[in-house]
Amino acid sequence: MYDFIKDPSIYNFVRGPLVWIAFLVFIGGGIYKVRHLILLAKSEKVVMPYISLKLTLRSLLHWLIPFNSVNWRLRPVITIVTFLFHIGLVFTPIFLVAHNVLIYESWGISWWTISEQLADIMTMIVIGSCIFFFLRRILAPEVRFVTFADDYIILAISFLPFITGFLAYHQWFLPNKTMVILHMLFGEIMLIAIPFTRLGHMFYFFLTRAFMGSDHGFRHSRDW
Ligand code: HEM
Ligand code: HEM
Repeated sequence: MYDFIKDPSIYNFVRGPLVWIAFLVFIGGGIYKVRHLILLAKSEKVVMPYISLKLTLRSLLHWLIPFNSVNWRLRPVITIVTFLFHIGLVFTPIFLVAHNVLIYESWGISWWTISEQLADIMTMIVIGSCIFFFLRRILAPEVRFVTFADDYIILAISFLPFITGFLAYHQWFLPNKTMVILHMLFGEIMLIAIPFTRLGHMFYFFLTRAFMGSDHGFRHSRDW
């Protein structure tokens, strides 16, 4: 049988052009999404007049501190898992030695890195959090009620780069090269999916805060 994993052109494609495509779609899609939402808000004449930078920043700061807002305090376990999950999710890939080496090889730039041990721990936290969110979605009736297929899909898209990166690093199960190829593919799928799915909240969460924070400060409403 033809062993496609051993074919170097597969590796080269996933390690080369597909990385470019993934980053271009991720950044271009993100810019498009934010622009689109701002234009939409402008066309709704009732939104823009009371958006205030001061109230937006106040709301963002208030909410980014764990346990500071009412909703975070009401659900302490979820709050801790959500914060740890996001810290691992965003910072591990950026400060990972393996990623920095690849970026240096390709573009000649590099930045700070975290130790491999810390990266491994943060990776396990992300993997564990995904399992936690998954179980919560199937086991808690009030969550299951509002869970649809796309909730599982975005969870899987977040989970797969971490589990495959972890397995590649430890060289478990599949031959290393196969796992690295799978990891790169899932990483690229995640980057491409972010602008087009609810994962896009990483680009527009500050707009949600701008709306809710300003609305609250302006009208003292509590629409949420
Ligand atoms: C865009 C293309 C990507 C490429 C080319 C890439 C490449 C790599 C490579 C070569 C490794 C090392 C594997 C080994 O040691 O054998 C790795 C590890 C890892 N990558 Fe990526 N990666 C990509 C995207 C991502 C994304 C989007 C994420 C998560 C958001 C991610 C998270 C990780 C993690 C968590 C590890 C393992 C950390 C550990 O347990 O030590 N990668 N990646
Ligand atoms: C960088 C800025 C980001 C912020 C401020 C942010 C914020 C949030 C918040 C507030 C929630 C709701 C938590 C809850 O239900 O209690 C959430 C959920 C989630 N976020 Fe993010 N996020 C960010 C980036 C990302 C990225 C880059 C990804 C993945 C690519 C991601 C994946 C998820 C997932 C999968 C959930 C849902 C977990 C579940 O099933 O309940 N987030 N995020």
